[in-house]
Amino acid sequence: MRTPLIAGNWKMHKTAAEAVDLVRTLVPLVDAVEGVEVAVAPPFTALQAVGRLLRAGAAVLLAAQNVHEEDHGAFTGEVSVPMLQDLGVSMVILGHSERRQLFGETDQAVGRKAARVLAANLVPVICVGESLAQRGAGEAFAVVERQLRAALQPIDASALALVVIAYEPVWAIGTGRTASKEQAQEMHAHIRGLLADIGGRKQADQVRILYGGSVNPANIAELMAQPDVDGALVGGASLDAETFASIVRFRV
Ligand code: PGA
Repeated sequence: MRTPLIAGNWKMHKTAAEAVDLVRTLVPLVDAVEGVEVAVAPPFTALQAVGRLLRAGAAVLLAAQNVHEEDHGAFTGEVSVPMLQDLGVSMVILGHSERRQLFGETDQAVGRKAARVLAANLVPVICVGESLAQRGAGEAFAVVERQLRAALQPIDASALALVVIAYEPVWAIGTGRTASKEQAQEMHAHIRGLLADIGGRKQADQVRILYGGSVNPANIAELMAQPDVDGALVGGASLDAETFASIVRFRV
């Protein structure tokens, strides 16, 4: 009922030429994989080049790693939704923990961005997740609830099914330390329960909840076997075409 989504977050890696090389290698490796949606999120500077390549009819969606909530204006260094649409972007990662921690992005800003992205018929991938200290203090569920409710607050409940949520425990990002399949399922079920509370069970059942944090070809299958894990947001392991493709082919 929910099509799995495997998305690669390239972060601040790859020049435009390197990005094109990676996607050229990746597309034939994942083209024939059925029943899985695949997306890549190169840095802004590579979106145009990768977008041109993908527009030629490939089975990989183009995603951005962030966006500004306004369409234009005096916002030095920022990029807007119409600018991304122009390049063929159909998905936008929002509220990644690096944006929250390093660039001061608030729950409220994530919500405003998500509403803007949805209004343009793009898919927001809203990231939530607790730090190690918060997990240690027994606050993981409350932290994720706060992040989720704030991000979804400006969104009309009828649009909820179009949103993608990525649960990324901060302590698992780039550390090689994955949440166990039980920890992932427990939090994903919590998130789906919150979504049902916010927008009703029918909508909640359609929302894809991705897991992110040290996903690799060895752990993807057991994560995907969990009933509420609908895909993955992959950082480091998405920078190599073969490795990312074997994550996409988690069923085989
Ligand atoms: P990682 O990053 O796969 O390198 O842990 C995941 C992410 O930050 O989205």
